[in-house]
Amino acid sequence: MSFLDVTDFRREFAFFSERPEWVYLDNAATSHKPHAVINAMVDWYQRDNSNVHRSAHQLAANATAALERARQDILAFVNANNHYQLIFTAGATSALNQLAFGLMHSVLQAGDLVVVSELEHHANIVPWQYHCAGVELAAVPLLASGELDMAAYQRLIARKPKVVSLTQLSNGTGVAPDLHTMLQMAKAVNAFTIVDGCQGIAAGLGDVSALDCDFYVCSAHKLYGPTGVGALIGKTAALELLRPLLYGGEMIKSVSFARTELNRLPFRLEAGTPNIAGAIGFGAAVRFLQQFDGLALRQHKMQLTQSFLSQLKELPDIRLLSPTNSLGIVTLDVATCYASDIAELLNAQQVAVRAGSHCAMPLFKALDSRGAVRFSFAPYNDLQEVDRAVEALKQALEMCR
Ligand SMILES: Cc1ncc(COP(=O)(O)O)c(C=O)c1O
Repeated sequence: MSFLDVTDFRREFAFFSERPEWVYLDNAATSHKPHAVINAMVDWYQRDNSNVHRSAHQLAANATAALERARQDILAFVNANNHYQLIFTAGATSALNQLAFGLMHSVLQAGDLVVVSELEHHANIVPWQYHCAGVELAAVPLLASGELDMAAYQRLIARKPKVVSLTQLSNGTGVAPDLHTMLQMAKAVNAFTIVDGCQGIAAGLGDVSALDCDFYVCSAHKLYGPTGVGALIGKTAALELLRPLLYGGEMIKSVSFARTELNRLPFRLEAGTPNIAGAIGFGAAVRFLQQFDGLALRQHKMQLTQSFLSQLKELPDIRLLSPTNSLGIVTLDVATCYASDIAELLNAQQVAVRAGSHCAMPLFKALDSRGAVRFSFAPYNDLQEVDRAVEALKQALEMCR
């Protein structure tokens, strides 16, 4: 396969010609969508719109084939070997809720321990609290450097947690924990392992077979796909253990008022009509990405991040919360101003960033930050946009002094 260049990448996104005045650096919240994704969804609605896995006509067969092709293409994209299957979900939040609920009714009992970390998004904290009554939720704390405290993790592992659920890349600060080591330590005590790959997959870290985790979750919209669809990718044996969170059509083999028999995977965990257009868009997103040289995209994003970080050094009143080798997420505190005010001053200059605690309140509490400004880069950004963001930030800081 011949790969397309980074400069071709930007051209595939209508947003940049529609809104040339904007600098979009809120990619960790959601990415823009290329023509390939939008067209795949529109085409399907216009030409093959039908429900899947039920009607006998050709259009329904086309819809089923498109959905199943997307499933296979996403599995291939994350290099999942044949131990894994993919469940379409409404996103990573929905996948993590299914995991917390599903494991509570099989693997977990009151008194057991689930380990997460202080880097987690709320989606990897709150489901454990609400679905797993009586289960202890413990978080690996941060060191002053913002990295995870591996000695504290070792102590938690010694308590033999039943589940270890960790982010691949913090959406709050861009820290990427040493998952290879952490997952090995979890497996050594037979814990079920979950990786929240929402940000990791967009940073090119989504190699599920290399991680060898029991479950991997992600959302399409962080990866140039549509909102409202994601994946719960799991080893078949682990998925088999999950009690479904949702019940209804399609997830059953037979129903009577006396007894219902559930369907096999993946259908058992996909109750109701799925987000068919979303799944097709998700499949189109990974096929789109495969046309490009992944390494070149990553290197370009690193170049943008490094350029931004080096220019930040010259700015006053800033506390950097991200590592200097961050994979595209740069978060900072401004001593003289609220993060929300900085974001508003940037917005006035048409630079889109996010401010606050980034759905990770415990993380920002641990960092002793009242809320921070996050600049998140994607390979479709360019160096001129980085410079514009720095200029806008300079002006915002001036106004705050
Ligand atoms: C690390 C991480 N986990 C989970 C989520 C939740 O994803 P979604 O809102 O698409 O379900 C996000 C979204 O910001 C995220 O960045």
